[in-house]
Amino acid sequence: MRPLIAGNWKMHGLAASSAALARALRAGAGEVGCDLLVCPPFTQIGAVAALLAGSPVAVGGQDCHREREGAHTGDISAAMLRDAGAGFVILGHSERRADHGETNETVRGKVVAAQQAGLVPIVCVGETEAQRLAGQDTEIVGWQLHSSLPPEFGGIIAYEPVWAIGTGRTPGAAEVMAMHGFIRRELQRGFGAVGAGMRILYGGSVKPANAAALLHLPEVGGALVGGASLNAGDFLAIARAAALPNMAAGG
Ligand code: 13P
Repeated sequence: MRPLIAGNWKMHGLAASSAALARALRAGAGEVGCDLLVCPPFTQIGAVAALLAGSPVAVGGQDCHREREGAHTGDISAAMLRDAGAGFVILGHSERRADHGETNETVRGKVVAAQQAGLVPIVCVGETEAQRLAGQDTEIVGWQLHSSLPPEFGGIIAYEPVWAIGTGRTPGAAEVMAMHGFIRRELQRGFGAVGAGMRILYGGSVKPANAAALLHLPEVGGALVGGASLNAGDFLAIARAAALPNMAAGG
């Protein structure tokens, strides 16, 4: 499977800057040899989806509500994301867990809603630095997987160690391999053959300079990129680095 390089724009992007970024990605996306996805803020999804229509770059949201519609002031449903042109949605990002008190149970409800609306959920898991130092990293990630994923899950997992997000620090190759291998075994245990084929993305300070080292590791199926996804050149460079071995193998 081709790697997926997904950009999480977080709370960045007004109309002009989002359109400029979308146009630059559209212009450069053809040659990278990866699947590409951008997740703009809600207000820019429709415009970015229109600019990227017919291009190799898919569009997603950064969150959704668990219900289709109703009296939930300020919330956005999965059906609304889909209607605006999204095909994916990031759920359970550590910033939402921290800023909005989202629990694994909240996330699970949103995953069900996303799948019912025809979106592919990207479910984020990852330990804090204190949890890693206490040797609890796999225990925490295992608990997040078991409690955040519904029995009929058919999406993508993003492993994002909280301490690597926006810090410029990343786990070493051995740590990434250990955690991705653990996640793969858990997915296979929970979902059988479907779990064996699920993409597991790495996220946390992925940059052009470290992309090749992180993204060619076994069981790493791509990246969820924050800061570097706001620069088209950096985002496409990450995608090219991720795609290199596949392109070599394919001649
Ligand atoms: P950075 O790439 O800025 O560390 O962000 C990672 C992230 O949180 C993506 O969801």
